[in-house]
Amino acid sequence: MTQDEMKQAVAQEALNYVVKDTIIGVGTGSTANFFIDSLATIKDEIKGAVASSVATADRLKSYGIKVYDLNEVDEISVYIDGADESDKNFNLIKGGGGALTREKIVAAVSKQFVCIADESKIVKTLGEFDLPVEVIPMASNYVKNKIISTIGGSPSVRKNFVTDNGNLILDIKGLKIHNPKSTEKTLDSIVGTVTNGLFANRCADIVLLGTESGVKRL
Ligand code: 5RP
Repeated sequence: MTQDEMKQAVAQEALNYVVKDTIIGVGTGSTANFFIDSLATIKDEIKGAVASSVATADRLKSYGIKVYDLNEVDEISVYIDGADESDKNFNLIKGGGGALTREKIVAAVSKQFVCIADESKIVKTLGEFDLPVEVIPMASNYVKNKIISTIGGSPSVRKNFVTDNGNLILDIKGLKIHNPKSTEKTLDSIVGTVTNGLFANRCADIVLLGTESGVKRL
């Protein structure tokens, strides 16, 4: 099975977690795109969706799925999104696609967070994947230096990339994140940081994993 086939299988399985007649949250990335393609087949069973990026909103709309602004919505039943890494406690690194801030907001509002990923995303210790941090452009150098002096690693500005919020991304290489909750909070406390790609204080509730032997629920 290819990685894309595993992503597709897990995206299809996630339809079982869609709550009928509600507004759901939809993530960003290639696995989330497969999920949107599957969601289109049951689009009449939901009221609509809140998107975690402009790209996701465009894809949902292309299927005729109603996209709500988050400020119009009081409750999201379930958030379905991919991840760059997950540990065994469902702490995640996200933001490879640069949508981490909106993803974190939608996850915070949602009653349940179902993470969909292929088996390559499971790691013992988070940090093999560069940890993204969204920063206000004028603060990027300050935040970079502060990261080095507080948690270490080698942060660098993602080239030719601006987030949907008009900000920059610092990708931090070389971390071994043994305490994701506290690292997430430490990064959040640096002035000029918008958010970081650790989803530990609001981690996933369920991880659906696409593997060679089928989809597993962790
Ligand atoms: C985007 C994300 C994605 O969920 C993450 O990058 C995984 O992407 P993919 O499903 O393409 O492997 O956090 O900001």
